[in-house]
Amino acid sequence: MDFLEKYKAEIDLELNKLFENYTLSNFGAAEETLKEAMHYAATLGGKRIRPILGLLCFEICQDDKTAPERSRGLTTREDTIRSLLSVELIHAFSLVHDDLPAMDNDELRRGKPSVWKKFGEEVAILVGDALQTLAFENLASSAPKNLLPELVQILAEGTGLRGMTGGQARDLSFEKNLLSPEISRGLALDDLIETHKKKTGSLILVAAKMGGILGGSDSEKLDLIEQYAENIGLAFQIKDDLLDFEGDAKTLGKETQKDFDKKGFVKILGLYDSKKMLNDLIEKATSLAVKLQSKKLEDLSRFITDRKK
Ligand code: IPE
Ligand code: IPE
Ligand code: MG
Ligand code: MG
Ligand code: MG
Repeated sequence: MDFLEKYKAEIDLELNKLFENYTLSNFGAAEETLKEAMHYAATLGGKRIRPILGLLCFEICQDDKTAPERSRGLTTREDTIRSLLSVELIHAFSLVHDDLPAMDNDELRRGKPSVWKKFGEEVAILVGDALQTLAFENLASSAPKNLLPELVQILAEGTGLRGMTGGQARDLSFEKNLLSPEISRGLALDDLIETHKKKTGSLILVAAKMGGILGGSDSEKLDLIEQYAENIGLAFQIKDDLLDFEGDAKTLGKETQKDFDKKGFVKILGLYDSKKMLNDLIEKATSLAVKLQSKKLEDLSRFITDRKK
């Protein structure tokens, strides 16, 4: 799966360029600190799974000679990567806020002090604010103008109450709901699946859709791409819960056994059934990748189950 490293390097290059160009002559010390903290949050570590997925979806549509012309020729690979960075910026913002003491209270992220631990809570809150708006600023300057309204809509929906942020709200209330005696195991599982789809699945779906649209996908192919992304999106968070339970903290670069006794798949389904559900989702995703005739999407779904971090 060498392409994962290669694509990650391409994405990192554009991400660094984005921050190099992100300046103003009248920045004072406070803005410089905020910028440093944003840069730290977005660039240090991270697998870049979302933009990699988006880029793969872009490629499979570009390869398709029957795709309509609505964006072909307007979007280069480089500009596509730039647009997909917007999803990575939103993801980075979500992690910065997720680690805050008021949320998961995590001091370690990607093997380093989390943003609030290094720069303070007030800076971490502002980092989230500014990364979120930078994502839209960046999309506006990189996406083809004819596709921009659709892409803004997709990114905003996937980020806000109907997407990742709504999922994070559900995640925070999940533990409380679980303590209530009237909640059954079945209901808790439904709630957890919905939470995971929203908090993690949303941005994975956004990345795939954006890539497909930028590649000029027809609606049939976009539908398969969406189904693929929905399966790996849920699978990705189940694997994250499994890694929280049985992964190696040093390899992961984050504290382990934080969620398993409060929420998450291992708590609700147990280890065996969580792994079974993960494998079923990945099998489904793999069969969709076969339909899409993409060996790389097959490899990516396998990477999600096999990953150690
Ligand atoms: C971690 O996401 C948080 C979840 C949504 C599960 P990643 O595992 O993609 O984190 P990085 O970006 O690679 O550090
Ligand atoms: C985070 O889920 C999902 C987000 C939207 C940030 P987790 O809280 O499980 O992610 P980690 O384990 O801290 O990376
Ligand atoms: Mg969390
Ligand atoms: Mg967390
Ligand atoms: Mg986790």
